[in-house]
Amino acid sequence: MDHFLYRDGILHAEDVAIPEIAAAVGTPFYVYSTATLTRHFRLFQEALDELPHLVCFAMKSCGNVAVIRTLGQLGAGIDVVSVGEYLKAKAAGVQGDRIVFSGVGKTRHEMRVALEGGIRQFNVESEPEMRALNAVALSLGLRAPIAIRVNPDVDAKTHEKIATGKKENKFGIPISRAREVYAEAAALPGLEVVGIDVHIGSQLTDLAPFEEAYTKVAELTRTLRADGHDIRRLDLGGGLGIPYERSNVAPPLPLDYGAVIKRTVGDLGCEVEIEPGRLISGNAGLMVSQVIYVKSGEEREFLILDAAMNDLVRPSMYGAHHDIVPVIEPQPGVEPRPYDIVGPVCETGDTFAKQRPLPPVGEGDLVAFRSAGAYGAVMASEYNARPLIPEVLVNGDQFAVIRARPSYDEMINRDTLPPWL
Ligand code: LLP
Repeated sequence: MDHFLYRDGILHAEDVAIPEIAAAVGTPFYVYSTATLTRHFRLFQEALDELPHLVCFAMKSCGNVAVIRTLGQLGAGIDVVSVGEYLKAKAAGVQGDRIVFSGVGKTRHEMRVALEGGIRQFNVESEPEMRALNAVALSLGLRAPIAIRVNPDVDAKTHEKIATGKKENKFGIPISRAREVYAEAAALPGLEVVGIDVHIGSQLTDLAPFEEAYTKVAELTRTLRADGHDIRRLDLGGGLGIPYERSNVAPPLPLDYGAVIKRTVGDLGCEVEIEPGRLISGNAGLMVSQVIYVKSGEEREFLILDAAMNDLVRPSMYGAHHDIVPVIEPQPGVEPRPYDIVGPVCETGDTFAKQRPLPPVGEGDLVAFRSAGAYGAVMASEYNARPLIPEVLVNGDQFAVIRARPSYDEMINRDTLPPWL
């Protein structure tokens, strides 16, 4: 459930009418709902309520400092994958002891910044990374808390670009080698082993792969404890999918996912961390765009929007579906017609949807892309010299710009001329 509903025939974000925001900030823009972010975060809290736990929002899905502060104030931890994200989490007011540092290629510089600034744990993904972290920690006179990410060789049954838990993927160490890697970690004086980490992929719509992976993690916990390691924390990653198409069968709920966690690892006495991104932010955001032209081709009708693939890349990159709805509610009984919905960028890949039925729309009308809060703004670029679009946060009847649209001068002046030109 989200808080983007039609009221009196106009799409609202909570109590704010979308056209009001469009008039204030121009189009295109992203808009997030505080109530939806809060609701989704709390669903995970409730799903794990009987276990000691920390829900660490995966910042990569939606990294605006205002969004992070909103979740941080609700008690969220944050899962970061770069020093940039680490510093943003800090800027949002999240303490280091609630920040988990994931990612397959952390540099020594990134390790140093996080160790100096405070960190809950590093999720280490390889032996070379583990040795580097040991050296950096020792050089600072510190011990780095670590979990080692194991690759359980489980098929997440999701899009190949976002599946991470098969043995051919670049992530983690093979679970079959975990004992020897943990033995080495325990012998390194700059490291403190605190737990095990696993993440098998994103947009999972079936609980079975989670169950399989977490069962393997539970077995590994027992084995490693028998080897003398103090495994007290399990980071179970993110990945629970969201309904992108309202017409489709809904993916499992956080409560069902929580039941899998309790069933598989609940009796180990470990603190459980999870790293959901998409399920918290995805349906908490819309991208709003205006129709520039309706162009009738020989075979089809094109809806040319002022948003493009550089603003929301998921359709071009993954063939992803986003529901697209008119901001003014169609009258009952109006016949939808098929449109190819495209942006102005100069390549055919700049297509949001083909032959998508929409109620008739015309020049100047506003449309909203649903489920755009996750992997939307964070993946945007300035391709075709199109400035990054603004982000807006709504809270009840208030709204605020949380990232302004850069002016053309700001964008151009980021380039600098060498002395010989
Ligand atoms: N933890 C780790 C280690 C991850 O790699 C990811 C996502 C998450 C947590 C959060 O997963 P979520 O709960 O959001 O599924 N750009 C792609 C998605 C990439 C996901 C990468 N890792 C997309 O637009 O679908």
